[in-house]
Amino acid sequence: NLPLLIAALFGYLLGSIPFGLILTKLAGLGDIRAIGSGNIGATNVLRTGNKTLAAATVLLDGGKGAAAALIAAIYGPDLALLAGGGAILGHCFPVWLTFKGGKGVATALGILLAVAWPVGVIACALWLALAFLLRYSSVASLGCLASAPLLCLWLADSNRAWLALFIFLLVAFRHKTNIQRLLRGEESKIKLSKK
Ligand code: G3P
Repeated sequence: NLPLLIAALFGYLLGSIPFGLILTKLAGLGDIRAIGSGNIGATNVLRTGNKTLAAATVLLDGGKGAAAALIAAIYGPDLALLAGGGAILGHCFPVWLTFKGGKGVATALGILLAVAWPVGVIACALWLALAFLLRYSSVASLGCLASAPLLCLWLADSNRAWLALFIFLLVAFRHKTNIQRLLRGEESKIKLSKK
């Protein structure tokens, strides 16, 4: 069905814009894929020491997920969910980077805020609480997104819960190396000071 395909493709194209990579290149910091974890997301942008750029990456990566869903929502609620699914796929597997994209966390939170805002707000709060307590970005990300399908069943509906489950599984798959590092006790913690 054509509208569904167009919504998913639109979401994919918007989601595939690698803001972390673009911003760090524009700031003259080189290729973010050669720094830290090699990821193009905000956590890795923070490892360059530039907090403003990391914050801008969260906002833009989250914003593109939210924008995909909100724009598609004008044409129907189901299209919003498909555009959201497309956006997370685009961020994780962008055609422009030979399908080697990011881990999808900021984009996922943006999509959740757009399709089920109470779930998005709780997921963001959970990320902050887990990151503050444990200092592992990956654990905070996996923890908050693991809760999202259940939160959707409680606060939204089953269609949104399916989207949240799809997002969680994709994000968990993209965190394979983080999970391996966590199990080995080698995952790096979030550092906000320069030292
Ligand atoms: O946002 C991704 C985060 O959960 C992990 O990022 O760079 O530590 O692999 P990173």
